Amino acid sequence: MEGVTDYPMRRFMTERGGFTHCVSEFLRVSQEVPPRKTYREFLPELATGSRTPSGTLVQLQLLGGDPEKLAEAAVRACEMGSPGVDLNFGCPAPTVNRHDGGATLLKHPSRIRTIVETVRRAVPAHLPVSAKMRLGWDGIEAIFENTGMAAEGGASWITIHARTRMAAYQPPVFWSQIGKVRRALDGVPLVANGDIWSFEDFLKCRDESGCEHFMMGRGALADPDLVHRVARELGLPADPARDSTPLTREAWAMLVDRFIEISLEYFPVQSAVLARCKQWIRMAHRHRGLEWFDEVKRLETLEELQRYLRGAVVAGPASGSTNVDVKKLS
Ligand SMILES: Cc1cc2nc3c(=O)[nH]c(=O)nc-3n(C[C@H](O)[C@H](O)[C@H](O)COP(=O)(O)O)c2cc1C
Repeated sequence: MEGVTDYPMRRFMTERGGFTHCVSEFLRVSQEVPPRKTYREFLPELATGSRTPSGTLVQLQLLGGDPEKLAEAAVRACEMGSPGVDLNFGCPAPTVNRHDGGATLLKHPSRIRTIVETVRRAVPAHLPVSAKMRLGWDGIEAIFENTGMAAEGGASWITIHARTRMAAYQPPVFWSQIGKVRRALDGVPLVANGDIWSFEDFLKCRDESGCEHFMMGRGALADPDLVHRVARELGLPADPARDSTPLTREAWAMLVDRFIEISLEYFPVQSAVLARCKQWIRMAHRHRGLEWFDEVKRLETLEELQRYLRGAVVAGPASGSTNVDVKKLS
């Protein structure tokens, strides 16, 4: 997820376990194929066999509309150690779509085939070339033709975010549509994605899609233990102690402390790390309604945030004080 699952978040989430595979944020390929330096900065895991420090494989995702450039970019990525590439046909951002990238390709099924085919031909055969797409631009039936095209182009697997580009992130998701595609599309593994916020959502998604593979984004961040419960259900390695019960503020304190430690090591700008922490906690708040979130919003330093999560009362400027006054809750 662009601006969210960067190196520190991937490192943090995978060291907690439960994940078997990561896909990077999208790397845009437009006029020029990015230089090697960009790849190294974008995907620091390339220096360690494209694995996070705890050993989870990270696959590079590319976004663009030019088959030859994407193929060149993919070859470079694989030469540098990416375990194949994923191709983005799902990003709904208007600027991306205006520049011939992401979900706009869903309006041109044959271009999806050409892109996948060209990249597939260029990348060594033992490395996967996968595709990620939404159900369609403005209708959910387009998915049959678009996945068919990706399959004809030789996609190793296809991840489907079960809503259209026009739906952006609004409910509902159509997991059953993934099930229909799965039955129509012989031999290409599908990965079901979209709105798995709880274990019950996961069960419903599995039931409706019939899939064996799942991608979790926001739900995994909002509830950092959920992936363990899902992994256990799928017979994958997981921590039995992590059970997706709502995390307390103190539990968040420990998570955030570790995330801050990793983030500052990678990018030592306190304000940026604070913004990332708030972004993350906001995601959990939207899902679970954290009653303490309003307080978090107004905290101005990492130290304030860390103290507040540990149970301190932090009186900042919003309460009339110019100094930060930290007292232990009684
Ligand atoms: C902030 C944000 C950034 C995203 N960036 C990407 C991206 O770079 N590549 C991609 O394939 N999907 C991206 N997505 C879409 C997610 O991968 C996923 O398909 C979508 O959020 C639905 O799954 P979820 O409900 O599990 O989050 C992004 C989503 C969000 C909210």
